[in-house]
Amino acid sequence: MIRQLQEKILKLKEERDFYILAHSYQAKEITEIADFVGDSFQLSLNAAECNNKNILMCGVHFMAETVKMLSYDKNVYLANQLAGCPMAEQVEPEMLEYIKKNHEGYTVVAYINTTAALKELCDVCVTSSTAVKIVQRIENNNILFIPDCNLGNYVKENVKGKNIKLIQGGCPVHAAVTKKDLENAKALHPDALVLVHPECVPDVVAGADYVGSTSGIVEFAKKSDAKEFIIGTEMSIAEHLQYACPEKDFYILSKKILCPNMKLTTLVDVYKAIDGRGGKEIKLDKDKAERAKKCIDEMIRLGK
Ligand code: 13P
Ligand code: SF4
Repeated sequence: MIRQLQEKILKLKEERDFYILAHSYQAKEITEIADFVGDSFQLSLNAAECNNKNILMCGVHFMAETVKMLSYDKNVYLANQLAGCPMAEQVEPEMLEYIKKNHEGYTVVAYINTTAALKELCDVCVTSSTAVKIVQRIENNNILFIPDCNLGNYVKENVKGKNIKLIQGGCPVHAAVTKKDLENAKALHPDALVLVHPECVPDVVAGADYVGSTSGIVEFAKKSDAKEFIIGTEMSIAEHLQYACPEKDFYILSKKILCPNMKLTTLVDVYKAIDGRGGKEIKLDKDKAERAKKCIDEMIRLGK
């Protein structure tokens, strides 16, 4: 059944000139039929280079919005219209205007998990895989980092000599994992290496053997000579890795680390979106998109 639907999608996407992007948290049956699977940064780079008329994003809303900014003349769709990222909605533009007033002369660095309206007010975006490198490369020593204070704290730890101000935001999924969860997982699997996403709280990050983006974690685990891994990011990554490396063992760090928004998209959603019966077309005002795109362009320039 799944195979048949996948074949129908592959045929239909050629007929309708669709390019399918999938974030690495998507289900296996979706990553199998995607043209490109990656982390937020890789998806942005890839979207900017694709030649198809239509792009379908299997991920969350801010990712589809970013694609629209980078490929304004293309039709960009989000496969499941309800898939949003709660972190992206945490800061209203008015709130950021207010914070900026108290931080004159600061470079405003936004995690890519933000809305287009917020990006318009920022100087440069970062993703989890590029944040340290980009903040290091920014000439200004005064940085206002929004909205994820856990990623921001990780950047602070790894970029010396800069004055980095954080606000109280973050990913409710990763931030729910505690030091106790980490201790429990280590007690169950004492020989496993711990690989975590920098959206986790500092206590969890401090106990990890490797900290990186979703793709960074996947690459590290594939290349490592170790045989067992505790995966501290959305649990789909442990599943994907288990398929990719059957000779190794992957354990989830905690049952809490499940993103309900990333889990919303189904293969049927993908089919319906390409067929014109589902999904959500991303519409952005041209001037707003151009203003918001500036910090994505800056991210690509500094992050490559
Ligand atoms: P990546 O940048 O690692 O893809 O992370 C995106 C995300 O939403 C993590 O929760
Ligand atoms: Fe947003 Fe967290 Fe889900 Fe990533 S895992 S999409 S940051 S809620």
